[in-house]
Amino acid sequence: MPPRPPVAATQTGDAGLVAAGVRLADAPPAPTWWHEAVFYQIYPRSFADGNGDGIGDFVGMTARLDYLADLGIDALWISPHYPSPLRDLGYDISDYLTVDPQYGSLDDFRGFLDGAHARGIRVILDLVLNHTSDQHPWFAESRLSATNTKRDWYLWRDGRDGGPPNNWMSQFGGSAWQLDPATGQYYYHAFLVDQPDLNWRHPELREAMWQAVRFWLDLGVDGFRLDAIGNLFKAPELPDHVSARSVFELWWAWQTATSDEERSATTAGLTELFRHQLDQPEVHELMRELRRLVSAYPDRVLVGETDRVEFYGHDDELNLTFNFPLMQTDRLTASWIRRNQTRQWTELPPGAWPATTLGNHDTSRIRSRFSAGDDDLARARLAAAVVLTLPGTPFLYYGEEIGMTDFLLEDVEQFRDAWGLWFHRSAEAELGLSAPEALVISSRFGRDKSRTPMQWTNAANAGFSPEGAATWLPTNPNHRSGVNVAEQLTDAGSLLRFYRRLLRVRRRTPALRRGDLTMLVGSDDVLAFVRRSLPDHQACLVVLNLSDRPQRLRLDVGTDALDTLFSTRSQRGVIERPTDLRMAAHEIYIAELE
Ligand code: NOJ
Repeated sequence: MPPRPPVAATQTGDAGLVAAGVRLADAPPAPTWWHEAVFYQIYPRSFADGNGDGIGDFVGMTARLDYLADLGIDALWISPHYPSPLRDLGYDISDYLTVDPQYGSLDDFRGFLDGAHARGIRVILDLVLNHTSDQHPWFAESRLSATNTKRDWYLWRDGRDGGPPNNWMSQFGGSAWQLDPATGQYYYHAFLVDQPDLNWRHPELREAMWQAVRFWLDLGVDGFRLDAIGNLFKAPELPDHVSARSVFELWWAWQTATSDEERSATTAGLTELFRHQLDQPEVHELMRELRRLVSAYPDRVLVGETDRVEFYGHDDELNLTFNFPLMQTDRLTASWIRRNQTRQWTELPPGAWPATTLGNHDTSRIRSRFSAGDDDLARARLAAAVVLTLPGTPFLYYGEEIGMTDFLLEDVEQFRDAWGLWFHRSAEAELGLSAPEALVISSRFGRDKSRTPMQWTNAANAGFSPEGAATWLPTNPNHRSGVNVAEQLTDAGSLLRFYRRLLRVRRRTPALRRGDLTMLVGSDDVLAFVRRSLPDHQACLVVLNLSDRPQRLRLDVGTDALDTLFSTRSQRGVIERPTDLRMAAHEIYIAELE
């Protein structure tokens, strides 16, 4: 017998709140590995240094595969590992067909991939289609003359009235056009000057890039995370934008927004500014072409760095896009998450499945963002539970499982992130701040803070590199006070042990991996929902008390008993005839409906 659907839940204390379950999401009709997998993002420079040079590499990553297998993740996303001048730390690729020597050789990569597969872990790569490095041989050739065969692989235009072709801005500040003295024309770059955009309207460029895609698929990688796909096409007539605000001004407003409303208004401002540079309709035809290519290989996945649901197409474009709006808040309240889920599942086309995440290499770390203040570990646990129990494919970011925090650099000489450096310069130039003031905000808003070396032990260099090595970014000193793998492995109450436990429960609970979603109405404090998988005859209740006070939940879930699968409070077993569920402060409770 399939479990009965939940009927209602009321949180006591909220007078007048008569709550009913709202069915929001269907289960995926034909779940595959990537619907159910938990992904873990590795920033290769920062995960494990195998040769003691202060920079992460594949030998180091391979040595940590057992750790990842024991953690209980199913797949890895590796941020760019290709040769690169590192102006954007690998997102500026100068050769798509091999490994940056800093990270090892192609054989090291093969060893890593085989080792991952042997442990049942899949590996997807980061694919940067929008731009190359200006050091890529394609661009070197393209800039040689206005008539060479690779000229139109990039976007070259004549200037206008002694200046750039139009007023488009780079997402990293300043004009999006760079004058190249060799030919007196400008090339377009959505990001850094060192990252010229490719012209995807050129068939030979497409074929050259598809060769690179086949190269990695032939090696056995399991798919790709597609970088910046919204940028791939720009409005062909190059119309000026009409925004009156500068990129820096908008980013600054975004970073300093004090309410969710203010932040979404700024997001709208950014969309307006980049209207002609992003999300042009032709991109969908390109995504279909890529999907056809990838589908020739069994069981591969395409994940797009976008939250636009149009990228699912009719299940003929991407497999997953990110639910980024979920992370665009400073406070994870139950109503924020309910609103997010309602919107997400209304917008997604039928059968589509999102990727759920709260952190990556471009954002603040979860523990710094959502957990500030007392009880920060309890809040970090709750954030993890949100990602791991809502329907969707979870993406974790390296180090979040041990509660790594943002590390704010105290010297601009240590900055490695070009965006952080631009923010620093702009804070001085546009806000008129002194250098020390600019340092404070740019270390906070730059991206180095969340890319520091993984903290393996409490020894010097956090066990990432041997003692005495100069690591590429400093290690966060909190590795000496418990924020490290070695100590947390032996501490049953640690965040790491919590992640491992929850990941195990998820792995053995089909309803959590692939079930549908019925949201139970509650307050700002308590998020309660049911995940149900009819083919597995299983339904689970998930209750997250996001507040720091005990809460009572009046339940009518059409069930005789709740069989506890997971709780952060001890001594929870089977609860007979559950009508009144008492939740401890910050408690995470998951139970099977009997
Ligand atoms: C998105 C990547 O996540 C980010 O790190 C990078 O700077 C830009 N795309 C440009 O590639």
